[in-house]
Amino acid sequence: MNRTILVTGGTGFIGSHTTVELINAGYDVVIVDNLSNSNADVVDGIEQITGVRPAFEKVDCNDVPALEAVFQKYKGIEGIIHFAASKAVGESVFKPLLYYRNNLNSLMNLLELMPKYDVKGIIFSSSCTVYGQPDKENLPVTEQAPIKKAESPYGNTKQICEEIIQDYIKSGAPVKAILLRYFNPIGAHPSAIIGEMPNGVPANLIPYLTQTAIGIRKELSVFGDDYDTPDGSCIRDFIYVVDLAKAHVCAMAHILDGKMEQAVDVFNVGTGKGNSVLELINTFEECTGVKLPYKIVGRRAGDIEQVWGNVDKANKVLGWKAEHTLAEALLSAWKWQEELRRRGVM
Ligand code: WQD
Repeated sequence: MNRTILVTGGTGFIGSHTTVELINAGYDVVIVDNLSNSNADVVDGIEQITGVRPAFEKVDCNDVPALEAVFQKYKGIEGIIHFAASKAVGESVFKPLLYYRNNLNSLMNLLELMPKYDVKGIIFSSSCTVYGQPDKENLPVTEQAPIKKAESPYGNTKQICEEIIQDYIKSGAPVKAILLRYFNPIGAHPSAIIGEMPNGVPANLIPYLTQTAIGIRKELSVFGDDYDTPDGSCIRDFIYVVDLAKAHVCAMAHILDGKMEQAVDVFNVGTGKGNSVLELINTFEECTGVKLPYKIVGRRAGDIEQVWGNVDKANKVLGWKAEHTLAEALLSAWKWQEELRRRGVM
């Protein structure tokens, strides 16, 4: 009998790639998604890749009766991976209440249902934004680095959700939790059947870059080359989304196999390497042979200068390590953009 995992936000970018890897690892998956920022045809894509169709329920995690009905319908859900959240840094500045209401309530609703349905563990999709701009001497940043005041309501919801989980478990709730702090997820499944589908004009670097490369956008704006970095552009830890997805499978096994020494644990999920925006552009051009039109413009408000992760803990405790290079991740993003053009999507 396979173990069943509930994946909220499972038709989204990271959620869909994680569902593929969970199925590949032998789990049954129930996807819950309100489709506010994704499409139900992603379920078809997951089935096409794995040969297995995950269960799908169009439910908003803020709708408690509908959410509880999912636990009643699918008996024996053992674990939850919680991706469903509003996640646009810029939008959160203009709509803070939407972000606090959605991101905090959906998590609390799930936590409250866990003991009632004997769900053993939850993996929370957190972010390196909780570190803010680490002090230079603290790079690469470890899980022990100080949590800095969030630069945006989005980032603040990640910090508050981590605290909610910790306080809930400290209160004696019979559940375990792993907080995964992602760096910058990029790329698409090698099949090019699923990938990142930003709504409207992308805020994130890679979708904007590939849309520029294919001619949808005129040129990429590089937000600043006057930072205190080797080439002046910002540095990030760009991690291939399939490697990131596999980290969730390792984390879920760590919980369900009873290997956790404490009830809550935190892991950085990145490559452990930093690359600058200009280095990334050069790598894209080299590996695809596609010239990328770009211009240097002023800095973007809220951007931090440089961050990349120390991922030794995930390597040692979860037995997980990113396996793909930046070039491989960028090639997969380009292949996905070409597929979207072939499908006439954009
Ligand atoms: C990366 C770098 C930009 C666009 C955010 C969130 C993080 C996660 C990922 C959700 C920066 C530069 C970007 C462009 C550019 N979000 N850039 N031109 O801001 O590092 O992280 O998205 O899960 O939690 O904080 O990602 O891709 O927006 O930017 O020069 O058109 O690329 O200045 O240095 P970011 P990003």
